[in-house]
Amino acid sequence: MHETVLRKKIVLGVTGSIAAYKSAELIRRMKELGADVRVVMTKAACQFITPLTLQTLSGQPVAIELLDADQESAMGHIKLARWADWIVIAPASANTIARLAHGRADDLLSSLCLASESPLAVAPAMNNKMWANEATQANLDTLMRRGVYVLGPASGDQACGEQGEGRLLEPMAIIVQLAQLMMPLKLQGKKVVISAGPTYEPIDPVRFIGNRSSGKMGFAVAKAAKEAGANVVLIAGPVHLTTPQGVERINVETAAQMHEQVMASVASADIFIASAAVADFRPLSVADNKIKKTQTDNLQLELVPTIDIVSDVAKLERVPFIVGFAAETDHVADYAKTKLHTKKLDMIAANQVGEGLGFAVDNNALDVFWSQGSQTLPLANKTQLARDLMTLIIERFYAKNSTQST
Ligand code: PMT
Repeated sequence: MHETVLRKKIVLGVTGSIAAYKSAELIRRMKELGADVRVVMTKAACQFITPLTLQTLSGQPVAIELLDADQESAMGHIKLARWADWIVIAPASANTIARLAHGRADDLLSSLCLASESPLAVAPAMNNKMWANEATQANLDTLMRRGVYVLGPASGDQACGEQGEGRLLEPMAIIVQLAQLMMPLKLQGKKVVISAGPTYEPIDPVRFIGNRSSGKMGFAVAKAAKEAGANVVLIAGPVHLTTPQGVERINVETAAQMHEQVMASVASADIFIASAAVADFRPLSVADNKIKKTQTDNLQLELVPTIDIVSDVAKLERVPFIVGFAAETDHVADYAKTKLHTKKLDMIAANQVGEGLGFAVDNNALDVFWSQGSQTLPLANKTQLARDLMTLIIERFYAKNSTQST
């Protein structure tokens, strides 16, 4: 990694968690990569690691107290809030996450976050039950809706002797994600259209043919494209997810409606990412009234193919850079590569689907193929996986444009 990749003024918030010892390594790595780091600790954090350690590593006084005349005169919380290009809280305890979600300002770190307009990233660290608790998840949801970046957590052995999700990411993994987020906005001025979620194909006014897509992958891709600075249009099938901040969302239900909205949006787009699980077939006719069980013993439905949206986009006169997805239960790579060619895509992201895989879950893994190469993006939560995918898309998008213009 280049030694100036984190050349930013970073306030590192350290909160009360056994993982606070990892913040020492984090400071060292941040400084090696060009960051100017000021540490703010909560009182609970001081129970786990001494301010002196972090002061020595950062080369700057550590701030703890909100109402301390000496500290306020040196670099008060408002000054610190203005100074920071970024605020990173690692480890972020469940308590700190809750207090941020509720806009509390009863200690230095929370006041600083409230007073700052700089981007904020939190790396949670807590017991797996605390992480899974509905209250914690709701607090994180609130923070993410406000544009806070959530890094991790990792999964594995915990200090409490349990196993599961909630471990602080390793310092280097935090650094890699921060470097990604701090990258210049590579898609500024570009339009990205993304399809997400399932489609529902009606049988009668109460029934439909659908699939298990939750929209999580596509919404995460929309968020990652927005983070990269793009103007993002998200054409969403019927899902109950919050629209990522700054993204324009168009709701549809059927494959035909998705086709219509994609074609209307994509003409002026630079990139089209087809992550929707579009139904391949729909009932030939839709009954006007609810089909009664007494009408027949065996109900026969005649199904006809839906329009292939991504293939139609590839036929446009001004074709955007097209990324398809392939959801397969078997022969994942072979089927994906075939779709790459038959659908005339620039890139395809293949995922294995099935029991607990791909659809609806929070984590996923992708094998990405393009005409001259491939890359595996290992299992990660969909938010991070989408960022990794976006990094790859940006690379290939500019590589294609540079060969076209030479
Ligand atoms: O939504 P989640 O629960 O998070 O799950 C994510 C996911 C598994 C749905 C996602 O990662 C994924 O794989 N999406 C694509 C699913 C799919 O429909 O794959 P496919 O192999 O059937 O289709 C190949 C490509 O053609 C896809 O880009 C699809 O959007 C596109 N297609 C398919 C049919 C059709 N009529 N029009 C299309 O454009």
